[in-house]
Amino acid sequence: MTTMGRIYDATWGRGFAAIYDRAFEATEEAGLREIRRAALAEASGRTIDIGSGTGANLSLYPEGVTELVLAEPDPHMLKKLQAKVGETGIATEVVQAPAESLPFEESSFDTAVFTLVLCTVPNPKVALAEVARILRPGGRLLFVEHVRSKDAGLARWQDRLEKPWRFLGDGCHCNRDTVATIEASRLTLDDLVQSELPKTPPIVRPLVRGSASLSA
Ligand SMILES: C[S@@+](CC[C@H](N)C(=O)[O-])C[C@H]1O[C@@H](n2cnc3c(N)ncnc32)[C@H](O)[C@@H]1O
Repeated sequence: MTTMGRIYDATWGRGFAAIYDRAFEATEEAGLREIRRAALAEASGRTIDIGSGTGANLSLYPEGVTELVLAEPDPHMLKKLQAKVGETGIATEVVQAPAESLPFEESSFDTAVFTLVLCTVPNPKVALAEVARILRPGGRLLFVEHVRSKDAGLARWQDRLEKPWRFLGDGCHCNRDTVATIEASRLTLDDLVQSELPKTPPIVRPLVRGSASLSA
């Protein structure tokens, strides 16, 4: 099945987009919004937010961002996103596209952003190759992602519950070692802060925020 056909046309895809902001409200207020803000503070220049969802990052971009592109493949999320686009004081364009195939020229962005997206994209390796392709040399990837636990016991539970969670989380894999995938890409990991996704089940609590760059 194609990427677009996999989940976005499913009934739950529509429901997930509808409840997303409400479902995350307590988590945002308990700290996620500040973690997002800290990650996005380093965004500058032409910036692409990939898998933008309902636009939770929109009001958090700093002044140094001169142009913002929001890429989102899910039509239900896209609708919500389009309703929020006016919230930024930044020139913003919305495109329907998956991370694995971004319709942009190489070296055309200063900053790329993933927040809670590499857990869900069908092919994170290809998504990171796309980011490396569209970033200019010296450009940066900023990310906030929930990841596989370093605790072997919790990681085992993440493996056991991966399948039911994937259904509940509309395609989210709770057991991905996303930092290893970033390290295996063309990007160089520059910083990494370990924290937790507050007010969530333990299997999705281990969180990382950080940045990686494309060698100049
Ligand atoms: C958990 S939501 C995160 C949304 C938003 N980035 C945030 O921080 O709230 C995961 C998002 O990834 C999107 N997504 C799923 N598959 C994708 C893909 N192949 N490429 C880009 N985004 C994808 C989903 O549609 C959804 O909007």
